[in-house]
Amino acid sequence: MSKVLILPGDGIGKEIVAQALKVIDYLNENHNLGMELIHGLVGGSAYDETGSPLPQETLDAAHNCDSILLGAVGGYEWESLPRDLRPERGLLGLRSELDLFSNLRPAILYPQLASASTLREEIVSGLDLMIVRELVAGIYFGQPRGVEERNGEKFGFNTATYSESQIERIGHSAFQIAQKRNKRVCSVDKANVLEVCELWRDTMERVGKNYPDVELSHMYVDNAAMQLVRQPKQFDVMVTSNLFGDVLSDCAAMLTGSIGMLPSASLNKDNVGMYEPIHGSAPDIAGQDIANPLATILSVSMMLRYSLNQSDLADKIDQSIVKVLDQGYRTRDIASDGDNIIGTNEMGDRVVEALKG
Ligand code: IPM
Ligand code: MG
Repeated sequence: MSKVLILPGDGIGKEIVAQALKVIDYLNENHNLGMELIHGLVGGSAYDETGSPLPQETLDAAHNCDSILLGAVGGYEWESLPRDLRPERGLLGLRSELDLFSNLRPAILYPQLASASTLREEIVSGLDLMIVRELVAGIYFGQPRGVEERNGEKFGFNTATYSESQIERIGHSAFQIAQKRNKRVCSVDKANVLEVCELWRDTMERVGKNYPDVELSHMYVDNAAMQLVRQPKQFDVMVTSNLFGDVLSDCAAMLTGSIGMLPSASLNKDNVGMYEPIHGSAPDIAGQDIANPLATILSVSMMLRYSLNQSDLADKIDQSIVKVLDQGYRTRDIASDGDNIIGTNEMGDRVVEALKG
């Protein structure tokens, strides 16, 4: 039995996680998935009920489970709260408390969706790249930080920090993933301007010596952003810091047609993981039955692969999603002319139907 904490969060989080639960229930009942579910609160909805975006009860449950499935956090109604109480703090707190330093964000283009990309088909067809983002350090967490009064005006500051060991461990993650793929790592930094990135680059070089079968290259982040839209298929694994990874992964997601298709895994050294779609809570479309639940369902598949050692069932989920796309069903975000547009709920049902074979 594996114990999985379910954290729908805010906005579309609830609707998309509900679809993933249909898949989990089906596999529990019919394929010995053996998943015990615990339900918890995080983000703005947790704040509304408990006064904290990351209640102690949620944190305790997170420490005592094998994996976490998270929907999304955030929404307009919480934007004016003090920073420590905002929904995003719940997510960042979980990442940091569980030391989920290795964030895997695969960008894969489904051939069925090639025409949904805003880029020309020949640029993106066959795209399969993996962004490995450092998730618990860098400017997101560096001290000092704040806004204070200096010389009669307000002054805002954050600090980009990385220790050698923090760079080493994300480097090892990236090289080990590349070994299972096409054996190329591109490390993305801004070493021409930032000292912290100089250390990043030197450390990546050193870690790379342990993986002679993997080819290491380096790229400045501005160029990497350009190359991602110019010739994305040149990349196999990209490894980068927390902030650069945040930006580049949204860009990579869009290459695949919709940010609604991409799952992610955030792992610690024991491979305990938090799995979530890379998109946000999309409050503008919440509750309308139009959000795409596939990134969340694919996050369940990633969980089975990376944390729970059930890759046969992960394959099954992936195949049923391909099947539904082959049948021409699309949520609005991935639809082209002539597609059969369906809602969030129906997409969940269709995936379960496809699982039945
Ligand atoms: C992401 C999100 C988060 C981040 C936000 C919601 C704090 O954009 O997971 O990419 O910046 O890491
Ligand atoms: Mg982001």
